[in-house]
Amino acid sequence: MERKKFLENLSLGIIATPLLSSTLISCNNDDSANSSVDCNNNITKSDMLGPYYVSGSSEVTNLNTQSLPGDKIIVSGTIYGGVGNNTPVANAMIEVWHADNGGIYHPVGDGNVSDYQANQITLRGFITTNAQGQYTFESIRPGLYPGRPRHFHYKVTANGYQTLITQIYFSGDSRTADENIDNCRIIDFTQNSQGVYTGTANINLQSN
Ligand SMILES: [Fe+2]
Repeated sequence: MERKKFLENLSLGIIATPLLSSTLISCNNDDSANSSVDCNNNITKSDMLGPYYVSGSSEVTNLNTQSLPGDKIIVSGTIYGGVGNNTPVANAMIEVWHADNGGIYHPVGDGNVSDYQANQITLRGFITTNAQGQYTFESIRPGLYPGRPRHFHYKVTANGYQTLITQIYFSGDSRTADENIDNCRIIDFTQNSQGVYTGTANINLQSN
């Protein structure tokens, strides 16, 4: 973002101050040489945690616990141990958090859920994989905030594997190129006749 535009947004309160510390710095640590990789045979790349991770969120099937406005989205996938898609990981914990339709997190902050009132917490929660390593959740399509592609944040925790902090992106979003996001985390979300976006985001974890 141009500095002038950034300062305008800051003065208007469009940008929350925690963004100053980290989010406007590129939020991924991809090797730009790996912009196109064989997704089945590579460990899923990590990303920065960002300033809005709140620990202790609840297990959910629908993250939009306050019925905020936006396009409904259903995300599914499988968590695999290692590469090759032959070791699904049961009971993996996938913490997900994302911005609302207007690009705002709830809360705009970090820490633990105990630091906030219940009505300040939404578009966050965790999902547990089933015996086949599969997960699914419902929410609204994340909105945009300055300087980033549209994204979900994931933190995946599973026994025997390294914890993975990453982000999931959207196909057709040219901003992913600005951050050299690898193709495995750019998901082809498609909108059905009811206006619902659906997409599949598989993850390959690195063993301990
Ligand atoms: Fe974010």
